[in-house]
Amino acid sequence: MSLLDRDRALVWHPYTQMKTAPPPLPIVRGQGAYLYTEDGRKLLDGISSWWVNIHGHSHPRLNQAIAEQAKTLEHVIFAGATHEPAVDLAERLVGVLPAGLTRVFYSDNGSTAVEVAVKLAVQYWRNQGQPSRQRIVALHHAYHGDTVGAMSVSDDSVFTKAFSSLLFPVDRVHPPYCYRCPMNLRRETCGIDCLGDLDNRLKSGGDQIAAVLVEPMLQGAGGMIMWPREFLDGVRQLCYRHGVLMIADEVLTGFGRTGRMFACEHASVTPDIICLSKALTAGYLPLAVTAVTNAVYEAFLSDDRSKTFFHGHSFTANPLACAVALASLDLIEEGDVLARVARLERQLREGFAPLAQLPIAGDVRVLGGVAAIELVSDKATKDAGGYLDQIGPRLYPAFLERGLLLRPLGNVLYFMPPYVITDAEVDWVIRCIGDVLKEVGG
Ligand SMILES: Cc1ncc(COP(=O)(O)O)c(C=O)c1O
Repeated sequence: MSLLDRDRALVWHPYTQMKTAPPPLPIVRGQGAYLYTEDGRKLLDGISSWWVNIHGHSHPRLNQAIAEQAKTLEHVIFAGATHEPAVDLAERLVGVLPAGLTRVFYSDNGSTAVEVAVKLAVQYWRNQGQPSRQRIVALHHAYHGDTVGAMSVSDDSVFTKAFSSLLFPVDRVHPPYCYRCPMNLRRETCGIDCLGDLDNRLKSGGDQIAAVLVEPMLQGAGGMIMWPREFLDGVRQLCYRHGVLMIADEVLTGFGRTGRMFACEHASVTPDIICLSKALTAGYLPLAVTAVTNAVYEAFLSDDRSKTFFHGHSFTANPLACAVALASLDLIEEGDVLARVARLERQLREGFAPLAQLPIAGDVRVLGGVAAIELVSDKATKDAGGYLDQIGPRLYPAFLERGLLLRPLGNVLYFMPPYVITDAEVDWVIRCIGDVLKEVGG
């Protein structure tokens, strides 16, 4: 039996309608920016394997880091015990995180990093004698993960609809979605007026609001929405002014993806809480961090044991994952990865700009190592079908046929490669996208 036959018999895949979806790609090997299938195909990984991979697949240094660590300690409980990889990683992260984020709490994926952040924010206020501050303010088009808390703070969507009865109420405000401006303004002349929605919500929320949660600079799964940095700065200022915590979900944006080590750096802001995962381990192993300021941490220090943060996972701070994260930080520093992403950004800007002329391309956006095209059926009206738009499933096989793995988010086609991709490969991808959009997109 082939791998596909065995898979079809027993396995249930994520985000997959098992009745109608095409068979999964039978991947047998990864090397650099490429994935290799059982039936002999070579595919360029244009989505960094769900946005996690930065240094390429099967990197010798990362492989070695895991192998070495496995020889001494593969895992140990992290409540009441510690180990060198976790402490080393905390030290390294605090050294590169926005100044002031000085305490590291480990978990094991992006959703748990967000769950931890939300729980910390709510308990922070309870521990400070303000238990009424329980509400989270989040943005329209937000995506923060698939566990129940992370779904609650994500925007209502086809992803969350079936579970609406389980979700806690969240206040939602405008993001700076300039292509579809919620205020019907133009970026060239606006004053980031969409921030007024957050300001009003924070004013009216009074002492009910615990924190504002954002994906800084790049709202990923909600449609690769890229922000003017002024909005991020405005969020930070409003949180200070209204005395609420700011949580930055940098699960996607961390570790250079937007051109800075962390997206918060685009506006030189330090959030009170930051969430990291995905590229933290260069896409090797599940690991997450929720890092906080000293002020947040100190609110949990008490002789009263009920003020403890009662949260943990079996695989919290897994040593193998910490070891590979440390090796990834070495590669980021040694390889001057931020300069690489800056070059990639320039190439993407130049290469994607002409695609804006295509009749199907409503908006072309680039930030750091991410390029996105919002596809529309009518440029004048900007009509599009959102996540369930049929264009996505039509484009996917057309790219695969050419040896390129891209997975459109409905009507938003994006390219987010591992940083090790070469300039020639980027040019090839851009040509491929142009050809496919002309052919399939009309
Ligand atoms: C911004 C953001 N937060 C959280 C998550 C959830 O991460 P995970 O899939 O590791 O649970 C994602 C995943 O795409 C994300 O993009």
